[in-house]
Amino acid sequence: MPPRLSPSHLLGNLETLAAIGAIEGGGCARLALTDEDKVGRDLVVGWMKELGLSVTVDAIGNVIGLRAGRETGAPIMTGSHIDTVRTGGRYDGNYGVLAGLEVVRALNEAGIVTRRPIAVAFFTNEEGARFQPDMMGSLVYAGGIGLNEAYAATDKDGVAVGDELRRIGYLGPVTPGALKPRAFVELHIEQGPILDEEKVQIGVVESVQGISWTEYTVTGVSNHAGTTPMRLRRDAGYLASSVNLFARKLAWDMGGDQVATVGEMAFRPNLINVVPHRAVFTVDLRNTDDAQLKAAEVEVAAHIAEVATSEKVEVEAKVLARFEPVIFDSGLVGRVEHHAKALGRSTRRMPSGAGHDAQMMQRLCPTAMIFVPSVAGLSHNVKEHTEAADLIAGAEVLLNLMLELAEARGPR
Ligand code: GLV
Ligand code: MN
Ligand code: MN
Repeated sequence: MPPRLSPSHLLGNLETLAAIGAIEGGGCARLALTDEDKVGRDLVVGWMKELGLSVTVDAIGNVIGLRAGRETGAPIMTGSHIDTVRTGGRYDGNYGVLAGLEVVRALNEAGIVTRRPIAVAFFTNEEGARFQPDMMGSLVYAGGIGLNEAYAATDKDGVAVGDELRRIGYLGPVTPGALKPRAFVELHIEQGPILDEEKVQIGVVESVQGISWTEYTVTGVSNHAGTTPMRLRRDAGYLASSVNLFARKLAWDMGGDQVATVGEMAFRPNLINVVPHRAVFTVDLRNTDDAQLKAAEVEVAAHIAEVATSEKVEVEAKVLARFEPVIFDSGLVGRVEHHAKALGRSTRRMPSGAGHDAQMMQRLCPTAMIFVPSVAGLSHNVKEHTEAADLIAGAEVLLNLMLELAEARGPR
């Protein structure tokens, strides 16, 4: 009997997980290592166990469910993340993890034991919305940063990753990266408009663009908004606001894939009639071309230096994340395309605009991603939506690809 996916299980589980940390409008707030994240983790671990997977938790809180093969050795791994941004949707990350579990269910029900083991993982703090850098669990897994560096990352209240992992009971005993997969495949919603606009069913992801995150703290002088002449102002808020406008124009002028976002900005004392003495803001720059990304970083830094001088304010910069663009394994990318087409789906090769755990896993083993459309390209938004038929179509591509990879012969 060929393995068949159960649409009702996949859709039902997505719904059940989305109820944890549910927020108005249909979205989720399960920031990494919060109580909500713990409840979500416990639920998914329970599902993994029900499916007969042997579950391990590593020292950065990554959870791996392993299904034994006819032979031992490196598994074929799939997975993603179940943490969300504060205003997250229900599909980002969660879809890839729960679809991985449905692959396992389909194999279980068909009585298939694959040649190679299969693993389904969820990685800690992919979003980077509470602790930076983003993709933290998979980055540690791939050896990109050490445990102590990750443990020391703090949120805005000064609470550290290591303490939160311990508090929610997910500082596990296993060394991250101890299980090196033979291949990694991540299924994810596109989170952008391309597939929806072009009415294409499956995105064959060839690469992930580079990411540059910097937090700036500006110090000026608070003064009376009515009495301080413009020539005497040392306005921290002015610099922050000017960077927002500058970065947006820069991205337009550079064209190509360059994007720029000032997503956080906070003023002190934040009062209508006081010139701000302090501003903290972030700049998120991304490009598929690292030379272009570096050029954008240089332009932003030069603009900040110029305004800091003219406004007589001090600026401190802290790099929160910096990842170069990643190219996925061409052979595996080709197999994503093959299986999508064999299932009669329309396909399109594309880069990923968002960051993903897969970009870290490519450091460890051949990796690829499968995208499904996001309605109106909305994501990191409670209205994030993907049609059920598209969710199932993507999971079918994942199932067939996992089966092929898990049956493949060749050196281990
Ligand atoms: C993670 O979701 C990112 O791309 O910001
Ligand atoms: Mn994601
Ligand atoms: Mn996300």
